[in-house]
Amino acid sequence: MDITATDEWRALVEHHRVVGSAHLRELFEGDPDRAGRMTGRVGDLHVDWSRHRVTDETMRLLVALAERAGVADRVAAMFRGEHVNTTEDRAVLHVALRMPSGEELVVDGQHVVRDVHEVLGRMRGFAEQVRSGEWRGHTGRPIRAVVNIGIGGSDLGPAMAYTALRGHSDRDLTLRFVSNIDPTDFAEATRDLDPAETLFVVSSKTFTTLETLTNAGVARDWLLGGLGADDSAVAKHFAAVSTNTDAVREFGIDPQNMFEFWDWVGGRYSLTSAIGLSLMVAIGPDAYDEMLAGCHTVDEHVRDTPLERNVPVLLGLLGVWYRNFFDAQTHAVLPYSQYLSRLPAYLQQLTMESNGKSVGADGQPVATATGEVYWGEPGTNGQHAFHQLLHQGTSLVPVDFIGFGEPTHDIGEMHDLLMANMFAQAAALASGRTAEEVAADGTPDHLVPHKVMPGNRPSTVVLAPRLSPSTLGQLVALYEHVVLTQGVIWQLDSFDQWGVELGKVMARELAPALTSAEPIELDQDAATTASVAEYRRMRGR
Ligand code: F6P
Repeated sequence: MDITATDEWRALVEHHRVVGSAHLRELFEGDPDRAGRMTGRVGDLHVDWSRHRVTDETMRLLVALAERAGVADRVAAMFRGEHVNTTEDRAVLHVALRMPSGEELVVDGQHVVRDVHEVLGRMRGFAEQVRSGEWRGHTGRPIRAVVNIGIGGSDLGPAMAYTALRGHSDRDLTLRFVSNIDPTDFAEATRDLDPAETLFVVSSKTFTTLETLTNAGVARDWLLGGLGADDSAVAKHFAAVSTNTDAVREFGIDPQNMFEFWDWVGGRYSLTSAIGLSLMVAIGPDAYDEMLAGCHTVDEHVRDTPLERNVPVLLGLLGVWYRNFFDAQTHAVLPYSQYLSRLPAYLQQLTMESNGKSVGADGQPVATATGEVYWGEPGTNGQHAFHQLLHQGTSLVPVDFIGFGEPTHDIGEMHDLLMANMFAQAAALASGRTAEEVAADGTPDHLVPHKVMPGNRPSTVVLAPRLSPSTLGQLVALYEHVVLTQGVIWQLDSFDQWGVELGKVMARELAPALTSAEPIELDQDAATTASVAEYRRMRGR
């Protein structure tokens, strides 16, 4: 189906002509109740979309579009375990990772929930052993540092969640993340660690990823060199998280220390699979369970709530509204929480690897713009950096503000000031400041245009009582389902990522030209050949 040829899409095009230029000031003046009405609750999250350039009619038309595109059917199909990842012919079941143990789900002959809980049980046992000091390294000393080696979805989720939940973590244990094949990443992460007290968790769905296997090999050398031990030390200092048992064994990690997940968990959807192992070690199994329960709350909401009240669906549709009808290119996520500093990076993979596509699931070129460019930084830091463009720039950037009622650290009035800033930013973006208002302050005429704030810049405000494992899980699931909704509207397979493959292949092909001391004839384009030649000169080759 060409979604842009449907009556529902055409109705939105027409509607945009009417409301697209309405100012949020007018919308609030003409409809003071919208602040109360255009809000929803999912779990503990209070979500306010009243500062969007929409009316009730807009929301009705967007929901009609979702119905036409088949959002509800796709959500149901995903939960049933149908192969909604069509290009890889796989089920998409990250939601099963958070289902309570009593639930029954059999997909392709696998007892999915039973298997999930079997692995969760093993993860719990392992995490408790490490946390209690019962797990001993090769020399008999307890583990003091855990280093997760992984990249993309095998890094960003646990790294983001660990940063977010540091306040819940065991401060006697150090947790580090190594992802980049840049050797500085490994060197900096391990420079002050004692090999006798260090445990590596090698996290890779495929266990073929160049960066991860290279870092894991370097880690093994660092460990054995540091301990002056042979390969027998590996068993006490390495665990693996993967779908690929053979490759784990081949690397030399005891499959007993391997925690499994399955091909129906996409890398960027894998935080709540065994990929969360290092996080579980840091925050403990109980807090980890709370995170899973938080996700599950939102999963149930997306599955059971009619589209017109389905919060992730509505947020996804608002993204479509700006991307396709206002030509907004980007979407800012501004958490007013330093603990959520890695959330934008995490969401970049989740959203952009999922929906950054120009070919639909049917293999045909898409009919619409897709994939918002996600970016952001925690407030208030961003206010002193890029908010100028948000307020007065020529680009329309829809914003998600995320804040919390209770601070994790209550120091004087700091949290109230933080939140005052968040509310002020949302209000300033929406209302702006007219030339008359600026002039009324006594601003000299020549400065008035510079101080005018156009306003009419949309934002969502998400408020949660506090940053806890549960509310973090709720936020993660909220965005996962936003991505799903948008992928259905744009008719994409949101669960494949073919676009990352070519670069991997080309890097493998180029590597010998960079490492060899011999002169090399390169069969590459002129620019690549010149760059490689310059690099070789710098390396004295
Ligand atoms: O390169 C992209 C990607 O395949 C991501 O989708 C994935 O999260 C990441 O690489 C890491 O893959 P793996 O977990 O198999 O090492």
